[in-house]
Amino acid sequence: MYFVGSLYMKVAIRYYSRTGSTRDLAFAIQEQLGVAAETIDIPIPSGVDLLFLGTATYKGRTAREISDFILTLRERKITVVFFSSSVFRKSNHKDLCRQLKSAKITFLPESFYSGSIFWIFNRKRPNEADLKNIKNFSKEIVRKYLG
Ligand SMILES: Cc1cc2nc3c(=O)[nH]c(=O)nc-3n(C[C@H](O)[C@H](O)[C@H](O)COP(=O)(O)O)c2cc1C
Repeated sequence: MYFVGSLYMKVAIRYYSRTGSTRDLAFAIQEQLGVAAETIDIPIPSGVDLLFLGTATYKGRTAREISDFILTLRERKITVVFFSSSVFRKSNHKDLCRQLKSAKITFLPESFYSGSIFWIFNRKRPNEADLKNIKNFSKEIVRKYLG
């Protein structure tokens, strides 16, 4: 497990997941960083600088729950980095960026999209490679921005 001094204080992981794929990605980040992955219902403590935010696309749209959550972050000094398990890579990326800009929330240029195959064809995403990739991604983000 990867753990750096006050990382618990500086990093939060939140996700919204209907069928478990985004949750699996969130737990991989948790395992990598040693920071608890929680659903978006759990408030983010003060002092958090960097938020890994897990989302997916449903019927072509960002989930309403995520949009509502983004609004709760309005005016907070927090930087968001997205991760997603949407089938079509980056299918909701522009929309998420638009929502964050509108709420005046900073976000990183980097993001992680595992991609996937539609759930009726393949229930095994994210796979081992996806989980390894998101662990490396989260490690690099922390090294680059908080290291
Ligand atoms: C009802 C439903 C609608 C979906 N619509 C889309 C879509 O429009 N575009 C897309 O890329 N993926 C779509 N997906 C696929 C999900 O984004 C993908 O399965 C994702 O991994 C689900 O994340 P979750 O398991 O964390 O809920 C849809 C999935 C479901 C269940």
